[in-house]
Amino acid sequence: MRRTIVAGNWKMNKTVDEAVSLAKGVVAATAGAEAETVVCPAYPCLVPVRDAIAGSHVLLGAQDVYWEARGAYTGKVSCEMLASAGVVYVIIGHSEQRQYFHETNETVNRKVKAALGAGLKPIVCVGETLDEREAGRTEAVVEDHVTGAYAGISAEEALRTVIAYEPVWAIGTGKTATPEMAQEAHAVIRGLLGRAYDAPTADAIRIQYGGSMKPGNARELLAQPDIDGGLIGGASLKPDDFKGIVLA
Ligand code: 13P
Repeated sequence: MRRTIVAGNWKMNKTVDEAVSLAKGVVAATAGAEAETVVCPAYPCLVPVRDAIAGSHVLLGAQDVYWEARGAYTGKVSCEMLASAGVVYVIIGHSEQRQYFHETNETVNRKVKAALGAGLKPIVCVGETLDEREAGRTEAVVEDHVTGAYAGISAEEALRTVIAYEPVWAIGTGKTATPEMAQEAHAVIRGLLGRAYDAPTADAIRIQYGGSMKPGNARELLAQPDIDGGLIGGASLKPDDFKGIVLA
């Protein structure tokens, strides 16, 4: 019922030429895949990558956006600009944005609202740090992130979003959450959505896992009932590794 979605978050990697070549590699490697396949390059690479994937099954995503429509906001990029560049999905609230660039639940919520208003599909990132997990606060943190991000968002709008559960301690560390740990967090998130909206809405929203997902552990993670895909960092930078996950 929920179509699996695998998105590559290329982060601050790849020049324009490298991104175009990676995008072509991804198109070739994942041809015929059942999963919805998305690549999220850095801003300067969006349009060249859009052209490289044109006519293929691969969709374009961005890594962040600003909520204001236009004006004197040096360094920022609006939803309308992203849409005009062929962007379909936009990652919002990534833990690296929260850690290094003052992203808060409030800014995440503003970005989600602006993205939905512009017809973009937000991939909303949530997840606890190691300290928070060790303090037994995983559920509380995830609840805080989800409630913050979805404040004032209708059920109909929420259906156009994807959630990425990314435990911060698993990102780029080679440490993956066990399938059981990930499933538990995903079930918590679906439960929250059920309370905020209703069961059919909660059942329809896709929840990706992110954090050192690799071809070797993807199948087990994706087999969990509430894991509907992956948000992939490191392994999305090599077409063969990404393919291994998309095909899983
Ligand atoms: P890694 O797959 O490199 O752990 O990164 C995950 C991530 O942050 C995706 O957004």
